Amino acid sequence: MDQRHDRIKLTALQEQVATAEQAASWIKDGMAIGFSGFTQAGDAKAVPNALAKRGEKESLKIDVYTGASLGSGTDGRFAQAGIVQKRAPYQSDSLMRAAINSGEVQFVDHHLSQTAEWVRGGVAGPLDFAIIEALGITEEGLLIPTTSVGNSAVFALHAKELIIEINTAQPAEMEGIHDCFEPGALGKRQPIPLVSPRDRIGTKGIPIDVSKVKGIVWTHQADSPSPIEPPDKETEVMAGHLLNFLRGEVEAGRLDQNLAPLQSGVGSVANAVLHGLLYSEFEGLELYSEVLQDAVFDLLDSGKALFASASAITLSKPYMERIYQDFGRYRDRLVLRPQEISNHPEIIRRLGLISINTALEFDLYGNVNSTHVAGTRMMNGIGGSGDFGRNAQLAIFVTKSTAKDGRISCVVPFASHIDHTEHDVDVLVTEYGFADIRNLAPRERAERIIANCVHPDYRAQLQGYFDRAIAQGGHTPHVLDEALSWHARYTRTGTMLKNST
Ligand code: COA
Repeated sequence: MDQRHDRIKLTALQEQVATAEQAASWIKDGMAIGFSGFTQAGDAKAVPNALAKRGEKESLKIDVYTGASLGSGTDGRFAQAGIVQKRAPYQSDSLMRAAINSGEVQFVDHHLSQTAEWVRGGVAGPLDFAIIEALGITEEGLLIPTTSVGNSAVFALHAKELIIEINTAQPAEMEGIHDCFEPGALGKRQPIPLVSPRDRIGTKGIPIDVSKVKGIVWTHQADSPSPIEPPDKETEVMAGHLLNFLRGEVEAGRLDQNLAPLQSGVGSVANAVLHGLLYSEFEGLELYSEVLQDAVFDLLDSGKALFASASAITLSKPYMERIYQDFGRYRDRLVLRPQEISNHPEIIRRLGLISINTALEFDLYGNVNSTHVAGTRMMNGIGGSGDFGRNAQLAIFVTKSTAKDGRISCVVPFASHIDHTEHDVDVLVTEYGFADIRNLAPRERAERIIANCVHPDYRAQLQGYFDRAIAQGGHTPHVLDEALSWHARYTRTGTMLKNST
């Protein structure tokens, strides 16, 4: 059997092969496109590359919807070519970030569980094309995704036409790890029948309408490795604080040694903190997350974690080489789902998740900013942190206490942008300790946060602010003229520290 027949088992599609350049030429100015890809995994590669090349030579503007961030430098190349009018729901590329912050690209920063509802309901789009990476297509017309499922299923269902990229560099042993479930229209759906991270409730691939397939492109290109940093001294200390908090929950009888299903967000800090569980007494762990980073595979290898469910696998280069060389050994312990299922509020609440995400900053009262530097400049996007934070049993946010060599305090009087309100946040962790702010009134929360989380260089400064705020009164006391003064000082002088010269 030649490769074409091996990967495209549905005879009707075997002659649909196109080049990336041909496929890119079908995209017209003003179109809205849904691309596969979630945290740089499972993204279509060849057609976006050809599209960026086209955009360098001719005037073209498209709206780009994805699962989450794209790999292969695609967001950066799109931004450089100037072909993006609207971008949603998440990105993490420095060039795209610059285009968003200059106002050139209109970025819709959206909860990752909800984009599918907008596509289904006709709020986003209509999508002219879905461009989706796949391992292959089965005889029954199921498109088998690769390292992510993301929004591919809803894009394939609702786009007018489909371009499929079959990527032979992705591990073929992945076939069978996906579970694609379509919840149906709002108001008409049944409960989602998932009661354990291990449950499979859908099909092993994405059902497609064969008549919509405009072309199939062959690619052979690995995902981009994730740029996460390995754990360091500070993140090890933070992991220790988190473990101490969890131990307290076990002692109080609210959790047992297996904890509850864990979710861990993107980035170096969340990965490092999860890594800390490797050296803990907790065992029999399960993950119900949206992305599986390096630490999850260490937990699976050690036997500490028994099962992991997510929407994507995103690994650093050394982990990618190791894990994908012998992927078969993880097959029975993993499942990848659409992001609207991995991040679904109904399931997150039912499973009682312990959710660990990273903050850029948080304030005296527990409001968390995950997205906007100094309240104005977009970093990456809210991603799934809102889906999980709002609905988890325990919404834990972690951050180092300072950034930029101590010139920025990540604990501030007033968060300069609020993604997770004080009502959605349970526990805050820095390298100085943890603040469990559940069941505390605002003034109690402030005292605990100042005592447990703030860097010593900023502690007196924050206490001073709080004292002046209390003198003015209120349920959530603030000195309005001063509330954002730390950010303003940083912009003016390059440090949030008072009298630092
Ligand atoms: N003000 C300004 N910059 C700050 C900052 C602050 N308060 N706190 C951190 N930073 C900077 C760091 O200095 C670093 O900058 P650099 O890239 O120039 O070195 C950058 O932000 C990343 O910080 P880092 O400490 O390395 O954390 P990270 O890699 O874990 O990323 C987030 C942190 C918040 C950017 C990242 O987790 C994110 O985008 N989160 C939102 C989405 C999300 O949580 N999804 C979860 C569901 S998967």
